[in-house]
Amino acid sequence: MARTPLIAGNWKMVLDHQQGTLLVQKLDWTLKDAKHDHGAVEVAVLPSHTSLRTVQTLIEGDRLALKLGAQDVSAHESGAYTGEVSAAQLAKLGVTYVAVGHSERRQYHGEDDAVVRAKTRRALEHGLTPIVCVGEPLEVRREGTHVPFTVAQVTAALEDLQPAQVAGLVLAYEPVWAIGTGEFASPADAQEVCEALRAAVAGQFDAATAQAVRVLYGGSVKPANIASIMAQPDVDGALVGGASTDAGDFAAIVRYREHPA
Ligand code: PGA
Repeated sequence: MARTPLIAGNWKMVLDHQQGTLLVQKLDWTLKDAKHDHGAVEVAVLPSHTSLRTVQTLIEGDRLALKLGAQDVSAHESGAYTGEVSAAQLAKLGVTYVAVGHSERRQYHGEDDAVVRAKTRRALEHGLTPIVCVGEPLEVRREGTHVPFTVAQVTAALEDLQPAQVAGLVLAYEPVWAIGTGEFASPADAQEVCEALRAAVAGQFDAATAQAVRVLYGGSVKPANIASIMAQPDVDGALVGGASTDAGDFAAIVRYREHPA
């Protein structure tokens, strides 16, 4: 079964809504080229919550071929949770994707597997597509236990979901040591874990679900390394941080089919 590649740009806490507007306009302009086949690769941007409305208006108003994503969602439905943003609020804004369990959330906000699972379920309940992020820290990679470590994160996040829900969501393998460090996992390393995560989904659910779920790689993705990463059979796209805040770099990543692996 063919899985549509997804390139998602996680802007983190970098761009404000004006900078975000400019970036989206430049990105659209750069991707308008006839050579870029919009149907072949899905492109999403994940702005800060404060920029979602502005970017959504731009995407909708100008009918841009971009999907909107959020960087986080509350595990709670609604109520007295000061500072949090609910899945219902994101859905109302036209948000399609939401990153859940990004390593920066796990590391700086104490999000454990139970929180990641609750957020994943909440997102699904409101029709959002979770991008469930997993990845091992450097010590785990050095010990060589990165496969069971990341498989356990995925298994915990997906516990009790229906196969159809899992088939439609996105997993992102982001080794913590490769995020924002310029140190990227080799294509073979990315393939090893992405393949293992897919096999874990087959074991937890079934083979058809595993074939349908999209698995992204993230961590220092750049125009220079994207093609070799995308050439791996179990890598269905990329979650791009730093390079997604530069319209030229992000457009070049989206157009990975045009450069040699
Ligand atoms: P990076 O971030 O591309 O800057 O390494 C990736 C991410 O955190 O999603």
